[in-house]
Amino acid sequence: MVAIEGSVVLVTGANGGLGTEFVRQALDRGAAKVYASARTPKEWGDERIVPLALDVTDPASVAAAAAAAGDVTIVVNNAGASNGARLGDTDAKALRDLFDVNLFGAIDVANAFTPALAANGGGALLNVLSVLSWIGIGDGYSATKAALWSATNTQRLELAGQGTLVSALHLGYTDTPMTAGVDAPKNDPADVVAQAYDGLAAGDFEILADDVSRLVKAGLAGPIEGLYPQLVPAGADA
Ligand SMILES: NC(=O)c1ccc[n+]([C@@H]2O[C@H](COP(=O)([O-])OP(=O)(O)OC[C@H]3O[C@@H](n4cnc5c(N)ncnc54)[C@H](OP(=O)(O)O)[C@@H]3O)[C@@H](O)[C@H]2O)c1
Repeated sequence: MVAIEGSVVLVTGANGGLGTEFVRQALDRGAAKVYASARTPKEWGDERIVPLALDVTDPASVAAAAAAAGDVTIVVNNAGASNGARLGDTDAKALRDLFDVNLFGAIDVANAFTPALAANGGGALLNVLSVLSWIGIGDGYSATKAALWSATNTQRLELAGQGTLVSALHLGYTDTPMTAGVDAPKNDPADVVAQAYDGLAAGDFEILADDVSRLVKAGLAGPIEGLYPQLVPAGADA
């Protein structure tokens, strides 16, 4: 279990849809301070919110943020991108860029803040994943979130020894700028973040924010065609 009250929270990608909720709801739950980190930090008009420059793809920026926020007790690895990268693209630049943000950026942030979390009693690392960690319909984006899921599973074991709770948040479409062009039912970001903080407070290793995440996770235990009905069994008549 991780106390939100009195905590010092750092949120990456704090200016985004979920990031803004992570900042606001930490304070609603009694956090003492929130580092609202972003590539372009902004003033929040609240003395408990400390704007901090942090580009997760820039090692110098990550190191500087870690040096500036040595009192952190909860790190929310929320920054992420979706750029339409496809595994089949012959020029893999977009895919590499996406892995830089969604996988390597999140790993670098975790590694940079691990010593502070240890020094401050363990605390928590929350990685914001996706239902697409478990189903490959999101092409390059799915691959980045699947890789971060695997990394999270390793970090959970590695950091248990220093008393850090490593938790994964899985969610489907949520109403943020990232999904502005998506015409489909979406979660309310406030609801997703409330579940995330409830999960951390309860000590949950994994937080499934919606039915689609629960359904897809359950599907991993079944035959692959259960998750991918579009697959035609080999030898089936056309
Ligand atoms: N919305 C969904 O349906 C959904 C579903 C599953 C998972 N997620 C995940 O939820 C997380 C938050 O996304 P969101 O929905 O809130 O989208 P969003 O509103 O687009 O926010 C994403 C944030 O990440 C930041 N970011 C991107 N690249 C960065 C970098 N190199 N360094 C630091 N920050 C960077 C962006 O910063 P700028 O403001 O500078 O661009 C933006 O503030 C992401 O990890 C996303 O993959 C979202």
